[in-house]
This record gives sequence, C-alpha cells and structure tokens, in this order.
Amino acid sequence: MNNPLIIALDFPNKQDVFKFLELFQGEKLFLKVGMELFYQEGPPIIYELKEKEHQIFLDLKLHDIPNTVKSAMKGLAHLGCDLVNVHAAGGKEMMMAALEGLDAGTISGHKRPGCIAVTQLTSTTEEQMKREQLIGVSLEESVLQYALLAKESGLDGVVCSTHEVAMIRNQIGDSFWTVTPGIRLTEDNIHDQKRIATPEFARKNGATAIVVGRSITRAKEPFEIYQTIKKQWEGVLQ
Ligand code: C5P
Repeated sequence: MNNPLIIALDFPNKQDVFKFLELFQGEKLFLKVGMELFYQEGPPIIYELKEKEHQIFLDLKLHDIPNTVKSAMKGLAHLGCDLVNVHAAGGKEMMMAALEGLDAGTISGHKRPGCIAVTQLTSTTEEQMKREQLIGVSLEESVLQYALLAKESGLDGVVCSTHEVAMIRNQIGDSFWTVTPGIRLTEDNIHDQKRIATPEFARKNGATAIVVGRSITRAKEPFEIYQTIKKQWEGVLQ
C-alpha cells in the first residue's frame, strides 16, 4: 500500500457523497465506505465509486463464525474493493476463513483485496477495555496480541491507533500494514475518538495509512483541509 490518506465517507446516502466529491474534481482518492453508507446504498455505491477510479476501503468490520465470514468475504471480493476488514476478536480461524473467502471471490485477473484486522477501536480507552472486556493486560499488549494473531492468520495488517504503530512495526516488521484512524489537526474537535494524533505524528511513527473522517467531511472547506492534512501526512508541511 502506497501510504494513502483515506477519506472516511461517513454520509447517510449517495447524494451527500457525490455532492461532497464534487469538491475534489479530478482527484483520484482512496475512500472508505463504512456501515452507515453501505447499509443504505449497498453494492451499487462501490461500483459507482470504482467507475470514477477511486480506491475503496470497505470498512464493515466483519465479526462472526468462520463460515459466515468466509461467505460474506467471497461476495465482498466480487465487488472489486481494494481493502476490507474484520475484527481480530473473531479469532484466528475466522481471519483465515476471511482470506479463503476473499481468494475465492476475487475476480480472475484482479488482485485479492487487502485484508486488515481491527484491534482495539480507537474510541476505546484502556480503562474502558479493562472494565468492559475484562482484559487484564495493558491496551498496548491487547493491541499487540491482536496484531500478532492477524499476522499469524496471514492478514496484511491491522487497524490501530497511531500510538501503537511503532510497537507493532518493531514486533511484526515494516511490511505489516498499520492503518490508523483517530486523526485530528491540533485545533480539531475530537468527537467520540480517544486515542487520537495528528497526521504528522502518524507519519513520524511510521503508519502505513491514515483514515480521516469528520476533520475533512465536516470542515467548512473540505478540499483545503484535505490538502493541509495530506501535506502534513506527506511531510511537506510541518
Ligand atoms: O470522523 P473520524 O475521523 O473520527 O472517522 C474515523 C473513521 O474510522 C470512522 O469511519 C470509523 O468508523 C473508522 N474507524 C475508527 N476506529 C477503528 C476502525 C475504524 O475510527 N478502530
């Protein structure tokens, strides 16, 4: 993966999406379609975005028994997405089944979509994890355990916070992708995110990709903010 800035299209319908994308005329983007949009618009939204030559991360965070995940992934691969994901909490057998499904569904002559695992959501704090999930180790250890499981299962990488990237790279290696949401410019509202950081911090810590939603989609001038974030991410602007 070529260190993309992935824009999270957290919109309720395709009208809002295409109105937003009018601001990015001519740009080939890496776009994340999540549950909100996909559950309303379904597969056609993926075809329409691919037709415009955007790359797509379909962020449905699958988490079910292995056979169900395998069958669902077969269908998602057929849509032609570039990247999909599962919850690492579903376990090794489930993650391996996800890959089998993707291999089976990939259209002949196309590349299998990348597959990454969500570790601990970036909206989760260590205190919350310990209290609600009864996980006794530190948040970092829990994230690392999930990342190791994902690696052993053959996945391409994980979704994690920028704060865990260096640890994961040290333990698992540089070729294992770390896709990091929870990105904010210093002056931004953090909303429901907890483990946040700036694009510059993400770059300095070696993240493979950043995922940015509301800082761009809810900005008064989305294209200008996109460019600022992109420059910080690429190290052109400090
Ligand atoms: O608006 P914001 O930049 O916080 O959006 C982050 C996006 O990344 C959302 O679409 C959210 O679903 C997604 N995400 C996340 N944390 C994860 C996995 C995905 O925030 N661990």
